[in-house]
Amino acid sequence: MCGIVGYVGSEQACSFLVDGLRRLEYRGYDSSGLAIHTGSTLTTRRSVGRIEALASQVEQSPVTGCLGIGHTRWATHGPATEPNAHPHIGGDGELALVHNGVIENYQALKDELAGKGYCFQSDTDSEVIAHLLVENLRNSPEVNGNPNLRYVNAVQLTLARLQGTYGLAITFRDRSNLMIAARFGSPLVVGVGQGEYFVSSDASPLGGHTDRIVYLTDHQLAVLTPEGFSVLHRDQGKVRVDIQTLEIESGEASLQGFDHFMLKEIHEQPESIRNAMRGRLDDQDATAVFGGLNLTPQQLGSVERIILTGCGTSWHSALVGEYLLEELARIPVSVEYASELRYRNPPIEKNTLVFGLTQSGETADTLAALRETKRKGHRTLAICNVIASSIAQAADGGVYLHAGPEIGVASTKAYTSQCCVLAMLALYFGRMRHLSFEQGQQIIRNLRALPNAVKEALDCDMVVKEVAAKYHESANFLYLGRQYNFPTALEGALKLKEISYIHAEGYPAAEMKHGPIALVDSTTPSVFIVPQGTTYDKVIANMEEVKARGGPIIAIASDKDPLVDRIADDVIRVPQVPEFLQPIVTIVPLQLLSYHIALLRGCDVDKPRNLAKSVTVE
Ligand code: G6P
Repeated sequence: MCGIVGYVGSEQACSFLVDGLRRLEYRGYDSSGLAIHTGSTLTTRRSVGRIEALASQVEQSPVTGCLGIGHTRWATHGPATEPNAHPHIGGDGELALVHNGVIENYQALKDELAGKGYCFQSDTDSEVIAHLLVENLRNSPEVNGNPNLRYVNAVQLTLARLQGTYGLAITFRDRSNLMIAARFGSPLVVGVGQGEYFVSSDASPLGGHTDRIVYLTDHQLAVLTPEGFSVLHRDQGKVRVDIQTLEIESGEASLQGFDHFMLKEIHEQPESIRNAMRGRLDDQDATAVFGGLNLTPQQLGSVERIILTGCGTSWHSALVGEYLLEELARIPVSVEYASELRYRNPPIEKNTLVFGLTQSGETADTLAALRETKRKGHRTLAICNVIASSIAQAADGGVYLHAGPEIGVASTKAYTSQCCVLAMLALYFGRMRHLSFEQGQQIIRNLRALPNAVKEALDCDMVVKEVAAKYHESANFLYLGRQYNFPTALEGALKLKEISYIHAEGYPAAEMKHGPIALVDSTTPSVFIVPQGTTYDKVIANMEEVKARGGPIIAIASDKDPLVDRIADDVIRVPQVPEFLQPIVTIVPLQLLSYHIALLRGCDVDKPRNLAKSVTVE
């Protein structure tokens, strides 16, 4: 949520800044801006809307200089207007800064600074930091021998007064060679080049520039000049940091012939699921193996409860995990919204394992929920896509998805990879408990067949297109499924809401009778997820109930289903797989349905309004 970039070195800063912001655009795209040191002043460019608007502005009116900062915004305080776009200027132009996070005590600070004569140009919380820093700078004495130290001291004093979260990059009018970056609660990395340094919210802008990276941790400040960089603790002195080698994920973030990233990522699922399983299925012991759980067999064997937590689509995969782990491993599972868990303070028994599910590894609520449970002495593990992300680092161990970069804001391949990892974990825990060798072998065979089943499911695209054309003007949709396909109903509805802005509700099919059936009429399609399985007949009966009330029915059914054609108005067929793997197959047509409906409604599929891929604020 909000992306930050910074450059200091001997090259022109502008091209790195604009390109870096393009790569961070998934974090927000309400407005963007940059500030470059141009000799005696800090020159800014700001623009409402997408990065391309900023790019064409700097093309028409270039800014030259070798030190600069940039920002792409997801609005928290104040609408998406130019005055609210970052960078924000402090005092009379003494500094420019970009901020990611939320300053909770901004109003009190704003009142205090306004009382001292500071004029505010924006509605943002971020501008407060800029003026407060100028105030501290004006009151900081020169430090003999090292003029930069005065600036560092002023930043330290300023940060100590902030309540909330921040990732910051700051440039100063009177220090043409100095940039200071700081982190608390919002991710920030430093790229270490040859005589040049980069600052960024994540590693993606560094590709092609350097593979040496420092992950700043909370309360750290980086002081960067073309000659070198150092890292300090906010309240103490210098700290030693490791320069790590950046692991560039394969599957570069380009469209590769697809019209949208979301479509590309939907089609990548056979491969991303294969990658999630690679090296993790053990035929010898008929189980799964995980290299990074960092728990002893005794600790794993004594697990008595599992908590799965996450947000958005990751919360839906947690629901799938609940069915998987309870059925295959017989371990009681609770699924928690991370945003609730972090404050709810539920009693958590000893021997409880807490899994945080997250594509980005940066979701603020998921990070906070894991930290809180870890602080209380529970083991925390991450099921995460982005390597070395904040959640991956905060957890005691975990499992990477290896799904490759997911750029479309609506999550698709990360979801199916999470479900796949959860199925392997269920196999793993199940084999430590009651599952027989033969049962383990059967599950492995089913898992191995899964990528092909997903590939076949993608063949429904033409039928889905026709269904989309028929229903894309509907104002409401119901999504209904039972057991393993109840989370699919929720996820299908979420996909539609996210990218086409149609109101959609996911419900357990049988629960429909207790409320949503009142919504059924000839204009409200009901999407039933009804592959053959234990509750098949019951769901068929629910379909009849909707049909009897004149509601149009779209069925997601197995390829061999003999019944649904008789009841449903439209049938989308997918390969029949065992029930525990159905969520990974039945979601595919629903992803495609939301995609095609969004296109027909003229929506921006990859960057839906108001959303961001990585939600780093509460
Ligand atoms: C945002 C994204 C969703 C995502 C959710 C959780 O809302 O738009 O697509 O599911 O955050 O993100 P995470 O990275 O933790 O899975």
